Amino acid sequence: MRRAKIVSVGSYAPKRILTNADLEKVIETSDEWIVQRTGIRERHIAEEGEVTSDLAVRAAQQALERANLVPEDVDFIVVGTTSPDMPFPSTANFVQHKLGAPRAGSVDVQAACTGSIYSLSIGAQYIQTGKYRTVLCIGAEILSRITDFTDRGTCILLADAAGAAVLQPSGDGSGVIDADLYSEGKYWEYLYQPGGGTKHPASHETVDARMHFAKMKGNEVFKVAVRMFGDCAATILERNGFTARDVDLFIPHQANLRIIEAAVKRLGLPMEKVLVNVDRYGNTGAASVYVALEEAWSLGRVKPGDLLLLAAFGGGFTWGAALVRW
Ligand code: COA
Repeated sequence: MRRAKIVSVGSYAPKRILTNADLEKVIETSDEWIVQRTGIRERHIAEEGEVTSDLAVRAAQQALERANLVPEDVDFIVVGTTSPDMPFPSTANFVQHKLGAPRAGSVDVQAACTGSIYSLSIGAQYIQTGKYRTVLCIGAEILSRITDFTDRGTCILLADAAGAAVLQPSGDGSGVIDADLYSEGKYWEYLYQPGGGTKHPASHETVDARMHFAKMKGNEVFKVAVRMFGDCAATILERNGFTARDVDLFIPHQANLRIIEAAVKRLGLPMEKVLVNVDRYGNTGAASVYVALEEAWSLGRVKPGDLLLLAAFGGGFTWGAALVRW
């Protein structure tokens, strides 16, 4: 089967920056506490009126331009998001329209922060089977809109951004080598948004109870994430006959520096081989791996032939990893 090559990447983060010092003014916290527990120093927050598909379109346009492609070339759009423009239509549907991609089918993938690996994997399948020639994989979030800024356990973490990757058939063996996707629904109460769905349809009561905001048991998430994240990254390497030494760059989901460090230790990788930008972006959900990949590419940290290991985890629980030959 032919591989799906990542021919270009793009990203976009809203201009407005919220620092830890800004958060100190609205909640009982400190820059020192946030940096020590999470590694986050600042994050981007969308402007009023800006919606998730707007961020996604900016990232997609950059990726398409870099590949010398036009929206008419796109066959399929898959968007990982947990903060869609609306419950329906899908955010991908809005991206298709705003981008002006007349031939493209479009669909959202809801896998919380693992939406990056899930969307990349789904997009790659369409290339591998020969069904499509150009697939736009996107992760986009405005998590600040589902964040309770009176809850100091979550509002320090969640943020806004979008990243995109254009996939096309590879002619030289580069591309997505493998991707593993996992889920375990019994952990759903560790990280979820209770209101607005069929279980608790939106009502005055659900809004008064702040059920339209994300709820998290941070400690529980931490414990499960450390285990799943490191394990799936190790498994995909082993199954494909690689060791940590073969990895040129590890691009993890940017949720928390301590979780990244624990996974890196589990893998036996030096930190020089890890892309970390959580300090400047916070947790941007399904966008995070794409945004980090774009940063790695922009900085010249990925070169043709490099082996990239991507991994993410998120609410659900969901988790997964991908191996990419650049
Ligand atoms: N500033 C200051 N103190 C805070 C705080 C904040 N922003 N948030 C929580 N605290 C306090 C708590 O109230 C608690 O105080 P208490 O002991 O008086 O009750 C104390 O810090 C310890 O709280 P705890 O929740 O045990 O802290 P922690 O060390 O687990 O850190 C997280 C909290 C959220 C940073 C951490 O659990 C974490 O990063 N979890 C993973 C979250 C994640 O990655 N989610 C996304 C998954 S995709």
